[in-house]
Amino acid sequence: MGNISYEFPVEKDDFERAGEASSKIKKILRQLGMDSGIIRRVAIGAYEAEMNLVIHSLGGTIRIDIDPKSIIITAEDKGPGIHDINLAMKEGYSTATEKIREMGFGAGMGLPNMKRCSDIFEIQSIVGKGTKIVMKMNLKDGD
Ligand SMILES: Nc1ncnc2c1ncn2[C@@H]1O[C@H](COP(=O)(O)OP(=O)(O)OP(=O)(O)O)[C@@H](O)[C@H]1O
Ligand SMILES: [Mg+2]
Repeated sequence: MGNISYEFPVEKDDFERAGEASSKIKKILRQLGMDSGIIRRVAIGAYEAEMNLVIHSLGGTIRIDIDPKSIIITAEDKGPGIHDINLAMKEGYSTATEKIREMGFGAGMGLPNMKRCSDIFEIQSIVGKGTKIVMKMNLKDGD
C-alpha cells in the first residue's frame, strides 16, 4: 500500500457539518479494510479534534496520512490558541459555554480521549496564532 493523505476543512461554529470530516475518515479506513479496533481509535481521535475546531477554534483543517506502518491525524487551526496546555489536558477541564453544554459537549474529555486513543500524541499551541495536534496510531501487521 502506498501513502495516502486527505485534508478536510473545518469551520468554526458549523454544527450543521460538524462530524463530517471524521465520518469521511472512518469511511476511508473502512474502504481500505483496516481493523475495526484501529478504525475506532482513529474515529474517536479525529471526532474529538474536529469538534474542538468547531467549538473552540476559529476554524482549521483535519488531515489524515496513512502509510503502511501508521495512521497520523493532524488537526491545525488558526487560533485563538490555548493558554495553559497542562490545564486543558486535565479530565473535566472545559471552557465550554452553557449553550455548548446544552448541546452535549463540554465534559472536558476530548483532549484526554485523543491522548488515550493515540500511540503518540503531540500538542503545540501559540496564543493568538493557533493549535496543532498530531495523533499517531501504529499499525500492526495485518491492520
Ligand atoms: N483547538 C482549540 N483551540 C482553543 N482552545 C482549545 C482547543 N481545543 C481545546 N481547547 C481548550 O481546551 C479545553 C479542553 O478541551 P477538551 O476537548 O478536553 O474539552 P471540551 O472540548 O471543553 O469538552 P468535550 O471535548 O468533552 O466536549 C477546552 O474547553 C478549551 O478551553
Ligand atoms: Mg473537546
